[in-house]
Amino acid sequence: MRAVDIIIKKRDGHELSREEITFFIEGYTRGEIPDYQAAAWAMAVLLRGMTPRETTDLTLAMAASGETLDLSGVVPIAVDKHSTGGVGDKTSLVVEPVVAACGLAVGKMSGCGLGFTGGTLDKLESIPGYRTNLSTAEFLRQLKETGLVLTGQSADLAPADGKLYALRDVTGTVQSIPLIASSIMSKKIAAGAQAIVLDVKVGLGAFMQTLPEARQLAELMVQIANLAGRKAVALLSDMNQPLGQAVGNALEVREAIDTLHGNGPEDFEEHCLIVAAQMLLLGGKAKTPEAARTMAEQALADGRAWQKFRTLVSAQGGDLTYIDEPERLPRAAIIEPLPAPRDGYLARIHARMVGETAMILGAGRAKKGDPIDHAVGIEVHHKVGDYLSADEPVFTIHAADAERLAEARRRLSTALAWSDDPVEPLPLFYGQPIR
Ligand code: URA
Repeated sequence: MRAVDIIIKKRDGHELSREEITFFIEGYTRGEIPDYQAAAWAMAVLLRGMTPRETTDLTLAMAASGETLDLSGVVPIAVDKHSTGGVGDKTSLVVEPVVAACGLAVGKMSGCGLGFTGGTLDKLESIPGYRTNLSTAEFLRQLKETGLVLTGQSADLAPADGKLYALRDVTGTVQSIPLIASSIMSKKIAAGAQAIVLDVKVGLGAFMQTLPEARQLAELMVQIANLAGRKAVALLSDMNQPLGQAVGNALEVREAIDTLHGNGPEDFEEHCLIVAAQMLLLGGKAKTPEAARTMAEQALADGRAWQKFRTLVSAQGGDLTYIDEPERLPRAAIIEPLPAPRDGYLARIHARMVGETAMILGAGRAKKGDPIDHAVGIEVHHKVGDYLSADEPVFTIHAADAERLAEARRRLSTALAWSDDPVEPLPLFYGQPIR
């Protein structure tokens, strides 16, 4: 077999066999197939697509490219959730402790921020001492002992995806539904998740901008999970405006702590309860959606979820004084409001623009390995549909210096659109869960 023939076959719109896909992924992982051929192949896949069968074979080949975890002897059922990436999406920090507090073990490997989207690892690293590089042995031990782990993706899991993702990032081949589906699912399968709730984001601040595309991605990922012998359910959630109020690492940790104390923004708490209930249902802890919802609400209301979060932070070496007194978390040098320029209804808070502004303030990386500033970010005080009077703050900007503050002001002003007529609020989710 030759890599060039496989590229040509896909370029001409034909279906690749399992053997061809496995040959390509194994060769690329070992460095025998160079980046330029993998880039040409990824572009051919982006332009020509893949059948569900090809996508499943690609997923399984990438999952098998490195170490795979078997959690069946560690916990009765390992449940995981995965978001396709958004702005202000600190859901894992709340949902995982809620679910673990209900007695369902959660072992999650998360990523760093990607483009304009934030990453759970970067957020957790705002807590001094918190380790995101647990070894596989530590991951398994903590999962067994505490029922909750939130750490980084081990480099040994699905290394083919690691290589391919970095290549896609710089060759204009991220936005391919089969490549995104296989990238996400290969990591979940390699990490041993037996049941997965997929939070597929759709809108201005998501990789999938339209509902039909998001639905296609969601259905494909559920299909792949089932073919790989895992249970899965996918939710389609809105990412036109940021989720909750906080965008930026320490700000998001603070908001997650507020939410775990029952004082979080309404939209974010509701989003977390819906995702948590789906995890409890899928993991078999509750028989009906209503029972799952009540269970999640109780774990939040009686403080068990908060205690579970403390146990997690302590187990991973984090200094508890920073979460018990969140005002000690990193704080930016300049904190200034951005007022509404006029009276009116908010018609748009462009999530991607807000995410990009947070990156420019220093909350994310311009290139791999760049340091990030945990303190900076943006508070978003309103939702689409709110009526504001001129001069009421829409945002509060947390910046390290005056230059970036000015740039953030300029960018955030263009993220907003206004209307004189009432504007419908945006939904949190679209349609029913996809199974
Ligand atoms: N998240 C991933 O892990 N992979 C993608 O391709 C897109 C989002």
